[in-house]
Amino acid sequence: MSRPGSGLVLGIESSCDETGAGLVRGHELLADAVASSVAEHARFGGVVPEVASRAHLEAMVPAVDRALAMAGVTLRQVDAIAVTAGPGLAGALLVGVCAAKAYALALGKPLYGVNHLAAHVAVDQLEHGPLPAPAVALLVSGGHSSLLLVRDLTGDLTQLGSTIDDAAGEAYDKVARLLGLPFPGGPPIDAAAREGNAQAIRFPRSKYADGTADFSFSGLKTAVARWVEAREAAGLAVPVADVAASFQEAVADVLTRKAVDACLASGVDHLVISGGVGANSRLRDLAARRCEAAGIRLRVPRPGLCTDNGAMVATLGSDLLAAGVPPSPIGFAADSGLPVTEVLAA
Ligand code: KG4
Ligand code: ZN
Repeated sequence: MSRPGSGLVLGIESSCDETGAGLVRGHELLADAVASSVAEHARFGGVVPEVASRAHLEAMVPAVDRALAMAGVTLRQVDAIAVTAGPGLAGALLVGVCAAKAYALALGKPLYGVNHLAAHVAVDQLEHGPLPAPAVALLVSGGHSSLLLVRDLTGDLTQLGSTIDDAAGEAYDKVARLLGLPFPGGPPIDAAAREGNAQAIRFPRSKYADGTADFSFSGLKTAVARWVEAREAAGLAVPVADVAASFQEAVADVLTRKAVDACLASGVDHLVISGGVGANSRLRDLAARRCEAAGIRLRVPRPGLCTDNGAMVATLGSDLLAAGVPPSPIGFAADSGLPVTEVLAA
């Protein structure tokens, strides 16, 4: 369990389409400013890297200023800076890393280049206190779906399994597109599913009980596409709410089953869910029920902290600072493929 520190940490996030600046003191959230370029990508049905990079450039300094104003502190009072070093879009990461280096050099403060995935897990501590060790983390975002064994957030994470093809969020985005719902697909599918019957269509649950901690969502996405095509070919209307609910049920069923199995297999009784898909209402409900039945304590941050933000980066930076971990060398590089096991960019 990491003991919360007392330093004031600024966190900067720019790995995808959200420009985030957050401020924490220990595990206390002081400010969380997020500017999203999602509207600029919507008509392309996915994030356009160059558009995201340019939007980060424009939004970065205003986001930091907004966070400082929210917290009622000045830059000089900041004790350390943390920034997402990877994984993510190379050009987008570069904007945040360069901004953070400029702030750190100008202020003479330590700089931590941190792992975005570990930061997703860390943020839960702002709401539920220090993460007990060991814990299993189900990390489900637009780019990743993994089960992790977390012994120490500041340096000891092991991957138990991950998706062998699409990430869960990617499946949401692709299914939304073929249902004519907007990008990103998670929120509109979540909303449509509330009006639908989750038992209407039995979509496949790939790798459901295969004894691994790996996932596969590409077959599910294809099954939805084939089902919709067959309806259309027969001249029938597509029942969007039922398809959304049935698809969502398949995703939540597999994610929660595998997460509980991973806890039981590793003898761990704490599960934390994080990443954008962690905002999903059905995933949260089903996880709560299954964890309770299995005697597992579940922690899920509120939806606004599941999706990308600067506070999560600040939280991990705060833990590194409190643990006395030396900061990254100023020459560290953004790494679009930073593995989840590398919490700190060297
Ligand atoms: O963690 P995140 O904000 O960015 C990445 O690191 O990828 O996750 C974004 C993903 C998107 O694929 C989005 O569709 C999904 O999270 N998402 C959701 C919900 N809100 C966001 N998926 C399901 N249900 C939601 N309510
Ligand atoms: Zn993320």
